[in-house]
Amino acid sequence: MLDTPAPTAAAADPTDAAMLRVDAVIRERLASRVALIDQISRYIIGAGGKRIRPRLVLLFSEALGFAGPERYELAAIVEFIHTATLLHDDVVDESALRRGRATANAMFGNAASVLVGDFLYSRAFQMMVSVNRMRVLEVLADATNVIAEGEVLQLMNMHDPDLAVDDYLRVIRFKTAKLFEASARLGAVLAEAPAALEESCAEFGRSLGTAFQLVDDLLDYEGNSSELGKNVGDDLREGKPTLPLLLAMERSGTADRALIRHAIEHGELQKLPEILAIVRGTGALDATRDAAEGEARKASAVLDALPPSRAREALLELCARSIHRSS
Ligand code: IPE
Ligand code: IPE
Ligand code: MG
Ligand code: MG
Repeated sequence: MLDTPAPTAAAADPTDAAMLRVDAVIRERLASRVALIDQISRYIIGAGGKRIRPRLVLLFSEALGFAGPERYELAAIVEFIHTATLLHDDVVDESALRRGRATANAMFGNAASVLVGDFLYSRAFQMMVSVNRMRVLEVLADATNVIAEGEVLQLMNMHDPDLAVDDYLRVIRFKTAKLFEASARLGAVLAEAPAALEESCAEFGRSLGTAFQLVDDLLDYEGNSSELGKNVGDDLREGKPTLPLLLAMERSGTADRALIRHAIEHGELQKLPEILAIVRGTGALDATRDAAEGEARKASAVLDALPPSRAREALLELCARSIHRSS
């Protein structure tokens, strides 16, 4: 278990009011003269989402004493980049459900989804230019590049039951943790924090993002589709060798190991009930959760480098919520 307190619905997040400003920026900057872009981008962004990455920008800038309006713009930018990755990811993963709605690819087709993803990426870069800070551009250019590398690496690992755990971890650091890292780092960049403190913020994001994706990979087996807003079993259908399967293969006997190998090689969603029993029975799901908790603990520990504040408390709470989540 985390040392952090269990999340409470009543806890006031100091970013709640600021998030309304971010939502206003998002709505304004989504505008396009092309009707289909407006329609698709509002379709996916309007479905909500947890908005974790913009919260990281706001919370780190607040924790380090920066309250200027650029933070709303940067928070909107990271949400645009995140949304662009989701549009592309759902095409690549052939996913049908996102944020409790039919995915954009299911509704409007793959071509429109990819192109609107490109629109959101490029709109995010237009907004970065308006912030007019080279360091911001550098952080986000690096992050988007690494995310793309992560998604391509993952594509290369598909259907490979012999994938090493370290190679799996590399993918999740690239595809997911990198944007968490950039979001936290940008709070420090805005506040012009000393280099060592900026690195601590980045480290927080890296660890939290890793924990977040580990839990995501766990929920793909033991989650509930209506709470998640995404279909459970997508990873198995695709033959994606995620940590629950890799650990289950390490821990099971010959017959069960062969069953999982075959399911990864062929993407056998119909084997989900048997595989669920194996990942549960071998303790692979618990071990995945332990790994996520370890990463979240690392993130929490980094917060000691920050001065005490409401924002720091909210970051601690975010660590707990990223682990104990069902959506
Ligand atoms: C989904 O991210 C993609 C992953 C990195 C697992 P989120 O779970 O933050 O998605 P939304 O924005 O809340 O829908
Ligand atoms: C999400 O990866 C990472 C990015 C979108 C870059 P997943 O494919 O594991 O996430 P979900 O399950 O579709 O949200
Ligand atoms: Mg996906
Ligand atoms: Mg994916």
